[in-house]
Amino acid sequence: DVCSSDLMASGDDVREYLYKVLVVGDLGTGKTSLIKRFVHNLFSSQYKATIGVDFALKVVEWDPQTIVRLQLWDIAGQERFGNMTRVYYKEAVGAIVVFDVTRPPTFEAVSKWKTDVDKKVRLPNDDPIPVVLLANKCDLAKEPLTNEKHMMDKYCAQHGFAGWFEASAKENINVEASVRFLISKILECDTRRPVPADDADRITLSDEATSHGKNKPKTAGGCC
Ligand code: GTP
Ligand code: MG
Repeated sequence: DVCSSDLMASGDDVREYLYKVLVVGDLGTGKTSLIKRFVHNLFSSQYKATIGVDFALKVVEWDPQTIVRLQLWDIAGQERFGNMTRVYYKEAVGAIVVFDVTRPPTFEAVSKWKTDVDKKVRLPNDDPIPVVLLANKCDLAKEPLTNEKHMMDKYCAQHGFAGWFEASAKENINVEASVRFLISKILECDTRRPVPADDADRITLSDEATSHGKNKPKTAGGCC
């Protein structure tokens, strides 16, 4: 089932969410390696290009009340030139765009991937899905990208990225942190989540907002 965000059966007070997340970016930028690091804590220096799309599932204990099942869609870099991405992107609620810090053309492709995602997938309320930018292979960088922090922050603001991280699948740098950051953004966008107790006076407002939406209550209603 490719459905992105079914609210799973909940015991006691624990809620489970299933979220579909896309991982995109040019050939060889390290998408498969980042997923493999995140899901299995493994790394291999051999390159085997992904064909089409691959899948991985990772269960994240977000907090004592919240379990997040991430369905990661590892989309081959060569798919940017194909016409299947619209099918692959369907019902995703978040995305990671990866570039390789040692290859400038892969950074130039970032905006193309971002535009492709924004054009082809939306949240049920028509907002763009949250997207995080990963500068991968930072273990090979001559200078840390944090020297360019201002430029990167500006780039993200201009292109509508929720945030960016320097990362290394090889050295396990910022792999988990960036995924957790994306999950926090996805959770913010998911209006089916219970309203925190100290926000109880906002219940009426959010109920109203949902009832105006064109979506059934089962799907995420709005964003941030
Ligand atoms: P496609 O499936 O073709 O789109 O590529 P991909 O983005 O999935 O790249 P993949 O994960 O297969 O990695 C490509 C190559 O880069 C492999 O040889 C990896 O070992 C290497 N690689 C990936 N991440 C890192 C990293 O953080 N540091 C270094 N040094 N090498 C990396
Ligand atoms: Mg791959």
